[in-house]
Amino acid sequence: MRDADLPSLSATVSTYNDFGPTAPPTKAAPYDLETRGAFVVEAGGDPVGTVSWYPKRWGPNESSSCTRIGVLLLPEHRGRGIGTTAQRELVTLLFRHTAVHRVEAYTDVRNIAEQRALEKAGLMREGVVRGSQFRDGRYNDGYLYGILRTDLDDACPGVSADLRFMGARHRFVGAVEATGQP
Ligand SMILES: CC(C)(COP(=O)(O)OP(=O)(O)OC[C@H]1O[C@@H](n2cnc3c(N)ncnc32)[C@H](O)[C@@H]1OP(=O)(O)O)[C@@H](O)C(=O)NCCC(=O)NCCS
Repeated sequence: MRDADLPSLSATVSTYNDFGPTAPPTKAAPYDLETRGAFVVEAGGDPVGTVSWYPKRWGPNESSSCTRIGVLLLPEHRGRGIGTTAQRELVTLLFRHTAVHRVEAYTDVRNIAEQRALEKAGLMREGVVRGSQFRDGRYNDGYLYGILRTDLDDACPGVSADLRFMGARHRFVGAVEATGQP
């Protein structure tokens, strides 16, 4: 991420990403495909949002790590297929260029747009994580979504053929320091 992108993109919030006031990032952090980072999503050459990724562990050993992804678009660019494409391409990039076995995402049970976008990007809903996210004065339930490298080899209904081959078109940006863990 370029430092110049930070003011407009990091100020963006939505119902499901609003965790109260935070210090705005002032400097783009180093990016590492293997662990964490963020891309600016562009439409027509303009920055319209970010997709990000960071490690999540399900056990004490390194092999129990997976990559969790997140996305945030500017309000005026939602509902045009961009969120689906951006997440699909990030998943593609991670499977093509890292050894990650599992890519996952989490979203509020009421966030229908993100649930549909994830499903169209090839992730499957795996279960509900009750009371997992404290936001807006209460604990909220979320759904966990995931896709495994081995899903790509199966006739997984959610995974389109181009998921395996589509290249990443998003401009490289690096991680946003204060928003690296959406
Ligand atoms: C969630 C988000 C990334 C989805 O990306 P998007 O580009 O807006 O979504 P898409 O245009 O790719 O649409 C995906 C699906 O959601 C549906 N959808 C889009 N907006 C919707 C809405 N407000 N309500 C219900 N469904 C909606 C679309 O119809 C489409 O489904 P379909 O193919 O069955 O018709 C985007 O809306 C966003 O940035 N929201 C705010 C941040 C956020 O919620 N991030 C995820 C937090 S975990």
